[in-house]
Amino acid sequence: MKSLVILISGRGSNMQALLESELSARVAAVISNNPHAAGLEIAKKHNIETCIVDHRMYQDRAEFDLLLANKIDSYQPYLVVLAGFMRVLGDSFINKYNGRLINIHPSLLPAFPGLGTHKQALEKGVKLHGCTVHFVTRKVDHGPIIIQAAVPVLPDDTAEILAERVLLQEHRILPEAVNLFMEGRLKITGNNVEICDNISDNSVLSKLEVYK
Ligand code: GAR
Repeated sequence: MKSLVILISGRGSNMQALLESELSARVAAVISNNPHAAGLEIAKKHNIETCIVDHRMYQDRAEFDLLLANKIDSYQPYLVVLAGFMRVLGDSFINKYNGRLINIHPSLLPAFPGLGTHKQALEKGVKLHGCTVHFVTRKVDHGPIIIQAAVPVLPDDTAEILAERVLLQEHRILPEAVNLFMEGRLKITGNNVEICDNISDNSVLSKLEVYK
């Protein structure tokens, strides 16, 4: 069975959603850059191997990225999932995992990349907000979109209430996207991801060459 590695930084609810879904893949390990990430305990309860690559222990991003990549590679994953991983990764890291690195982001990209997405959505007065699973490319929060889910923004929403509504959808679309990837059903043309009935395992990889 193909395997994946999940990277987290904190609470780990998206990771938990993956661990509790019927995945067509085995979770080989959960890696955190934050030794105090609550998600590490959740992973241990699910008997998943955990490890910490603490970014504060390294001189610069390049060194951190290298050590992180070495740790990931020790599990030989088919896919790497950023599930609430809050460090920006450098170009060489992203190039190395080109086509097999996906991220969940709490907005309808390309709206509201970066942090504080729910607050921004309220400030801008949008009527729909949501979440996105996308391939990671060198431009942060801009890679080809695999799945999005939209939720309404309601008159009495606070950022916290809106975040909870979005999070429920995150927990639904992240496992779905992982399964589509594992089943070889994602075909990328330019910036578009088509969901196919069945395609070969390496189609995603070849189409993503364009982003190198
Ligand atoms: C999630 O909402 C995820 O979309 C977001 O952080 C939260 C992590 O929660 N990720 C980003 O903002 C990445 N740009 P979790 O640890 O409970 O999954």
